[in-house]
Amino acid sequence: MSRRRNRAELVVVGGGVIGLAVARVAAELELDVLVLERGRVGSEASHAAAGMLSPIGEALDPGPFLDFGLRSLRSYPAFAVELEEESGVEVGFEGGGKVRVALSPAEEGRLRRHHAWSARSGFTTRWLDPAELARAEPAVAPEARGGLLIEGDCRVDNRALVQALLISARRRGVEIREGEPVRGVQGEGGRIRGVRLSDGGIVEADTVLLAAGAWCAELEGLPFPIPIRPVRGQAVSLRPAAPISGRVLESEEVYLVPRRDGRLIAGATVEEVGFRRELTAGGQASVLTAAIALAPELANARLEESWAGFRPGTPDGLPILGEDPDMAGLFVATGHFRNGILLAPETGRTLAHAIAGSGEDGPPEAFSPSRLRKARA
Ligand code: FAD
Ligand code: GLY
Repeated sequence: MSRRRNRAELVVVGGGVIGLAVARVAAELELDVLVLERGRVGSEASHAAAGMLSPIGEALDPGPFLDFGLRSLRSYPAFAVELEEESGVEVGFEGGGKVRVALSPAEEGRLRRHHAWSARSGFTTRWLDPAELARAEPAVAPEARGGLLIEGDCRVDNRALVQALLISARRRGVEIREGEPVRGVQGEGGRIRGVRLSDGGIVEADTVLLAAGAWCAELEGLPFPIPIRPVRGQAVSLRPAAPISGRVLESEEVYLVPRRDGRLIAGATVEEVGFRRELTAGGQASVLTAAIALAPELANARLEESWAGFRPGTPDGLPILGEDPDMAGLFVATGHFRNGILLAPETGRTLAHAIAGSGEDGPPEAFSPSRLRKARA
């Protein structure tokens, strides 16, 4: 009978896209890594996501989020190829860009302002007037007032990505244990010693990474509570008779993300309802109504699947990445909110290097756990 090990150099709590991305690079840096996942790997937010890789579209203004997102996006082509080679799983990484469509005068004003700062910052965004938009995207509602084309945006099949990360991490020597809930961390004298499992067992570790997404706040024994909250997103998968666009289409109410197999992911609500998992009539109706308002022919699309997931939200909207200031060896990687799929490669790289102490750049100071402590003090 195989015995569970009770020691690792690095224990990663949570097997979502973030935990796996860090674990995989840490193994490449020759750390002995154990991932402890409460349920099935990649079955929470990383499963629920739409897979948009959209730093310019998601940024509200220039700043550390945009810089980190752009770096992550630049690394995606090589990340995707490497993962596909190591895992044999196609991850559906594609360019194609995104068009953000203005369906009202107010949306047009906001999009034109977005266009102005992105153009000033040197990004390739282009304003499409109604006639250009109708030519470029004939499925978009004819009353649209124009659109912002963001050429550099990409997308990936996030569910396939998680499977590829799982296989690749295992091939690199990471041990991944599913069905293993962690109750909390154990520290002594200002230093991490390991984690306590829900069944009372202890796993000792030199370093622990908390990557439990929206559930990080529930872990016990932390020097300071992690200010993470769940933000529910309901989404649906549609199958139109024929593809409506090769790009992501988006209004302020909904996005439509094409998959290679002909599905279209439409999402998502943004709801502050705690960990309530249920799908609601109102949430589903709002996504579907907005999808049809953006591309009217979707009224005839087949509805294939509906789901909800919990984005890990933070008070200032930025991720929490880095070492805890009060417990040496305790690292955090959460709070990726709407963009964890986009930010996975750069989070994986910077966190793994910080943990291994390799001397390479770690995560940006703007994302450090200590900023939230200072803010609260
Ligand atoms: P998760 O994927 O939630 O993983 C956390 C893991 O930790 C889970 O597997 C959980 O079971 C495990 N866990 C929790 N508690 C414990 C414990 N005590 N012990 C052990 N394991 C534990 N991002 C994008 O970049 N692009 C998008 O288009 C996009 N669309 C989205 C659409 C929706 C509807 C939603 C909900 C999110 C979307 N996101 C998108 C955001 C993205 O999904 C998240 O930011 C990302 O998945 C977070 O990854 P994670 O690994 O931190 O969390
Ligand atoms: N990034 C899309 C979402 O979180 O819904």
